[in-house]
Amino acid sequence: MKTVSGIFLIVTVLLAGIASIGQTQKWVIGMSQCNLGEPWRVQMNADIKKAAAEHPELTVIFKDAQNDTLKQRAHLEEFADAKVNLLIVSPKEAAPLTAPVAEAYRKGIPVIILDRSVLGSEYTAFIGADNKKIGRAAGQWAAARFPKGGKIVELKGLMTSTPGQDRHSGFLDGIKGTGLDVVFEADMKWLEPDARTEMESALAVQKKIDLVYAHNDPGAHGAYLAAKAAGRDKEMLFVGIDGLPQEGQIYVQQSILAASFEYPTGGKEAIETALRILKGERVPKEITLRSRVFTPENVKKGGEWLDQIPIR
Ligand code: FRU
Repeated sequence: MKTVSGIFLIVTVLLAGIASIGQTQKWVIGMSQCNLGEPWRVQMNADIKKAAAEHPELTVIFKDAQNDTLKQRAHLEEFADAKVNLLIVSPKEAAPLTAPVAEAYRKGIPVIILDRSVLGSEYTAFIGADNKKIGRAAGQWAAARFPKGGKIVELKGLMTSTPGQDRHSGFLDGIKGTGLDVVFEADMKWLEPDARTEMESALAVQKKIDLVYAHNDPGAHGAYLAAKAAGRDKEMLFVGIDGLPQEGQIYVQQSILAASFEYPTGGKEAIETALRILKGERVPKEITLRSRVFTPENVKKGGEWLDQIPIR
């Protein structure tokens, strides 16, 4: 049975097709966002909207799966049924969203995967920053900051998503052979309230903590709030990832975070790539975005690019 939004979608795609006849080509892009709970994802949608607004030939239809994998699967099926001209997907987690992405791709719909990946290679292009490299850079930053070693709490992003896995393994690489030890780790699923709760547990069992490494800035902020409530925030440093001007960079300026590593949303690049695909151009299978680190010393100067920092 078709839902009202499914019927609306089909009508929009049909109208765009009719509008194309005898005129310049019009295209409908379906954008499947896994959730809009974090500022970073709101920013991703805004970046897509802004880039698309410069191209009147594009209509983007956004769907928010509200952090529900089943809902996101249904959204992908609706977009494919409506035969959108192209799909942009930022999947909640890799394995369960692989099949619906592959099905749309096999039907001939070009698919751009943004930020979190799926399994295999049945999609047109993947766009995202190098999460392993970001994790490794965070580990090396920690090693430089604590040359005598120290105790780390790691608050991980959803470990069924690729950025969580890569930010974890990259970080372990970065601290390998140093005196730094991860003494407490938990999956906070990218969510600030979960990070706060997990940090309360860490504080209860660890009498000394030198550093909290959280896989995103909401997680680092949640940990900071827990430590502050326990009167222990001054005892440790907090590091996060995302580096949004309105979030992580502000926390760095306020000295809440000692560092935030940028994770660009890729929204603008997704639209640029979509246009190239729709015009029949070939695009690279993997598009890797650059990333910066923001610290209190460099944040006002726009941070420092990771590829300009010597890597051990
Ligand atoms: C938002 C978010 C970001 C993070 C990204 C990873 O949902 O958790 O904070 O960098 O997803 O996919």
